[in-house]
Amino acid sequence: MHAPSVSTGYAASAPRVEAPTTGGAPDGAGRRLPAIEADDLSKRYGDVTAVERASFRVERGEVFALLGPNGAGKTTTINMLCTLARPTAGTARIDGFDVRRQPRHVRRHIGMVFQEPTLDDQLTAEENLRFHAVLYHVPRHDVDRRIGAVLELVDLSPRRRDLVSTFSGGMARRLEIARGMLHTPAVLFLDEPTIGLDPQTRALMWEDILRLRREQSVTILLTTHYMDEAEYADRIAIIDHGVIVALDTPDALKARVGADTVTLVSPEAATARRRLEGAGFAVRADQDTVVVFTEDGESKVARLLEVAAVPVSNVHVHRPTLDDVFLHFTGRQIREAPGDRATSMRLRAMARRR
Ligand SMILES: Nc1ncnc2c1ncn2[C@@H]1O[C@H](COP(=O)(O)OP(=O)(O)OP(=O)(O)O)[C@@H](O)[C@H]1O
Ligand SMILES: [Mg+2]
Repeated sequence: MHAPSVSTGYAASAPRVEAPTTGGAPDGAGRRLPAIEADDLSKRYGDVTAVERASFRVERGEVFALLGPNGAGKTTTINMLCTLARPTAGTARIDGFDVRRQPRHVRRHIGMVFQEPTLDDQLTAEENLRFHAVLYHVPRHDVDRRIGAVLELVDLSPRRRDLVSTFSGGMARRLEIARGMLHTPAVLFLDEPTIGLDPQTRALMWEDILRLRREQSVTILLTTHYMDEAEYADRIAIIDHGVIVALDTPDALKARVGADTVTLVSPEAATARRRLEGAGFAVRADQDTVVVFTEDGESKVARLLEVAAVPVSNVHVHRPTLDDVFLHFTGRQIREAPGDRATSMRLRAMARRR
């Protein structure tokens, strides 16, 4: 197995691993260009429309998540942005460079972590990075320092000389992220960086990802089908059957689904309902429960109890979750990914091998 051949060049002037290779070329009017712009990006494979007219912008320094179930078109979208798949229609620009017309420029500015593991587990962490440094034309005099810096970024410095076959799945994935950062890309693509990892390891991966953004000012586009972790992203595009069905911040998406609900359990539910409606609240009630629909439910609880003025045995506040958001926009729950188990086993097997 060998490192991906996505890169064809390296910005020799990039001074430090602490800075991205570009601060973003200005457009004709002197404005800084967005890190990623996709316009009606589409990909067909025969009869299958993998991605249909995806349009979005990702600003510099954003963490942007493509959230969707298996087969939704996440990898295909990333592949088109990385110049690994040619769009059937539409186009995209990375740092102002067109993926169709300027693929070499695009490749120079991006780092990539593939959905499938691509480390050589018979080599050490350092050897994997060295191999990548050659492919990416990192200047020889800078290689040692960069390797040290990226290993530090993902907390793997003590394992520098260990064979990747002795790494856990999470460590191997973090090493792939380090490798993606070796040539100080302006935009880092992470295709399912946490797939198959346990929740604790996934949380650690997210610490790494958010630290990269904070300390390296790198723009990150990642894919996931885990609802809980999409919350960490600045913005989320929900993609289903190749179509982006919603795109916004996690909070705004939840707000679009509806208000919070506050449920009061009371033997005098009918009285509570009358009083709450009288005070202008939107209310639904049955025998012993009153459900109030309101913005910012938690802060309203005391007021609701005061207005209802009945004995209450239980109060429950529910904020819409991303599960509710997905259900709202797609009409169903996100499907559990059958690939999860396979990938998890593969990562573990990789770690077990000599
Ligand atoms: N090279 C290809 N040839 C034919 N069909 C393809 C190819 N690559 C992807 N597809 C199809 O395009 C659709 C989208 O696939 P894609 O891999 O982009 O989904 P995904 O969202 O990344 O899914 P997963 O969560 O399983 O990784 C699927 O129907 C898939 O079968
Ligand atoms: Mg995929």
